[in-house]
Amino acid sequence: MIGEAGTTPFQKDLRRHLRERDEDRDLTRVICELATASRYVIHSIRTGELGVAGTSNLYGETQLALDVLSDRILQKRMKYSGVVAKIASEEIDEVICVNPDGKYSIVYDPLDGSSLVDVNLAVGTIVGIYEGQEPLSAGNKLVAALYILYGPRCTLVYSTGNGVHEFAMNALMEYTLVQENVQMAPSGTIYSPGGQRNQYTPGVEKFVSYLEEKGSKLRYSGGFVPDINQVLIKGQGLFMYPHLKNAPRGKLRLLYELNPMAFLIEQAGGAASNGRQRILDIEPEGIDHREPIFIGSKEDVARAEKFVAEFG
Ligand code: AHG
Ligand code: MN
Ligand code: MN
Repeated sequence: MIGEAGTTPFQKDLRRHLRERDEDRDLTRVICELATASRYVIHSIRTGELGVAGTSNLYGETQLALDVLSDRILQKRMKYSGVVAKIASEEIDEVICVNPDGKYSIVYDPLDGSSLVDVNLAVGTIVGIYEGQEPLSAGNKLVAALYILYGPRCTLVYSTGNGVHEFAMNALMEYTLVQENVQMAPSGTIYSPGGQRNQYTPGVEKFVSYLEEKGSKLRYSGGFVPDINQVLIKGQGLFMYPHLKNAPRGKLRLLYELNPMAFLIEQAGGAASNGRQRILDIEPEGIDHREPIFIGSKEDVARAEKFVAEFG
């Protein structure tokens, strides 16, 4: 009811939104279980232990207690859903077989940007959903993707291939609709550049100069989810974590960071490229496959590809 503090005109909750759009019941189940999982993750972030877990993940990165805890929470809810066959998690070295009869398989980064929690910056959960038993698939096989952003507000953004829709968690920890069919302008005035500047290649350097000359402003938090969310919800701009002289594949992981975000941004009319080809068309070489990324307003992404093609 408009006017009551913290409510939205819609007050339409996530489950009703999915039901009204006649989404597959099992897919609705998975998305709602992920929403439920986020309640436990946000509680852990706000009250949990920030230290290290004394273990490391596939990339040799020290796992924070929150990374491991978030992974456990998501695994538990996916198992409980009864409709998930397999899971590929950033925090687990191999694919987890959950339910041989499951209709969907999931890839996720349970807590992206976890090293930012101790300085109270926004972090998020990123999920890609495939139909069937093969989570190590190209992004063009995704049937849905979503992220949950644990910021000043807790928001959930999803798409099942029919537009991108944003929800916010209310006082009862339910997600209510904020806006439907988010759309991106063809070009923007925000850019979010990851990676060390002195490792940028000539093409990327020239692209940044082009963006600055056209008046783009730098917006970078170091958290992939809030940085992408800013470009998506503002409806304009570009995020990049490019190929670097000392890291030709960049840093971000194709399966559970780039593909879900590329699915969402394309659904909002944007584009996502590794500088040479569409992210969603890249065949994953393995669970730890990394790729450079230029993602956001499609004219800005196309311009990045031109600079990379001409100058490397
Ligand atoms: P994760 O915390 O899951 O390892 O991901 C962190 C990523 C991503 O959030 C962000 O875009 C990138 O790390 C930032 O990297 P830099 O610190 O090199 O800028
Ligand atoms: Mn991550
Ligand atoms: Mn992570």
